[in-house]
Amino acid sequence: MKLLIAILCLVVMALGPISARTESAELKPIAVIGSTARSAPEIIRQALAAGRRVTGMSRSPERITISHPNFTAARGDVYDVDSLADALHGDEVVISLVGPSYVPGKEVTSVDLYSVGTASIITAMRRKGNQRLIVTSSGGVEMIPPEKPTTGGFSENFVWMKRGQYQDMQRMERIVANSDLEYVILRPRGFRDAPRKNNLLIADGIPTPNPSSILSYTDFATLVLSLTEDDRYLNRAIGVYTDEFESTD
Ligand SMILES: NC(=O)c1ccc[n+]([C@@H]2O[C@H](COP(=O)([O-])OP(=O)(O)OC[C@H]3O[C@@H](n4cnc5c(N)ncnc54)[C@H](OP(=O)(O)O)[C@@H]3O)[C@@H](O)[C@H]2O)c1
Repeated sequence: MKLLIAILCLVVMALGPISARTESAELKPIAVIGSTARSAPEIIRQALAAGRRVTGMSRSPERITISHPNFTAARGDVYDVDSLADALHGDEVVISLVGPSYVPGKEVTSVDLYSVGTASIITAMRRKGNQRLIVTSSGGVEMIPPEKPTTGGFSENFVWMKRGQYQDMQRMERIVANSDLEYVILRPRGFRDAPRKNNLLIADGIPTPNPSSILSYTDFATLVLSLTEDDRYLNRAIGVYTDEFESTD
């Protein structure tokens, strides 16, 4: 009997706690490209809390301060396909939070980070066999003014100032839609560090309302992780917004 118990203990020690194994076996691992993004820590925190394996990529992985047995920090530059492919195992849902740094008040006229970078991500995913990609675009892609607004609210002028960025997001969206991957394109409005509110609204097939609505990182993270598992909005671009406003528009 003692021998049987000893063998059982050894088996459990070798396999790890049964509940943890079951949970992580059910939920897909994720790879987050842009793990130093402001929206990243909450996605990673919720994923690890749910028992997922997480790879966090950054051009400077030493800036990622997360320490967890299921977390690996890796170098990943979207202008360097090999760096992305090297960090992927092939079974992760890939989440891209990549975006350029922005100097307030400065016009952004020429960006290729989203389009060239996402083409690299797709190449790396094809190479490693990853199937699902979740990318962040913006509700701004739906409202790029054709010329400099002479009147208009804050949002219209903000989008004009950053039109190069939104135009590149449009190119990215076309590249993703023409790929053979499973994908979801998210068009959020502004993010804020705020408590969970469970108030996210989805614009599916209609223009995203409320240009200045606020999303909390917590709610956004929960949405992103849910989209790794279910097919509700698969192969679509969806607006993500709330009925809460911030600025005077
Ligand atoms: N913030 C908003 O209000 C807002 C609103 C609508 C949409 N979005 C979109 O939502 C996404 C996440 O937003 P966020 O505010 O959380 O992002 P963020 O704080 O601006 O961070 C952007 C990330 O992009 C990464 N990055 C830049 N160049 C890269 C490259 N060549 N290779 C790999 N990574 C690169 C940076 O990582 P490293 O420098 O560490 O490499 C950084 O972590 C972005 O796509 C953004 O455009 C944001």
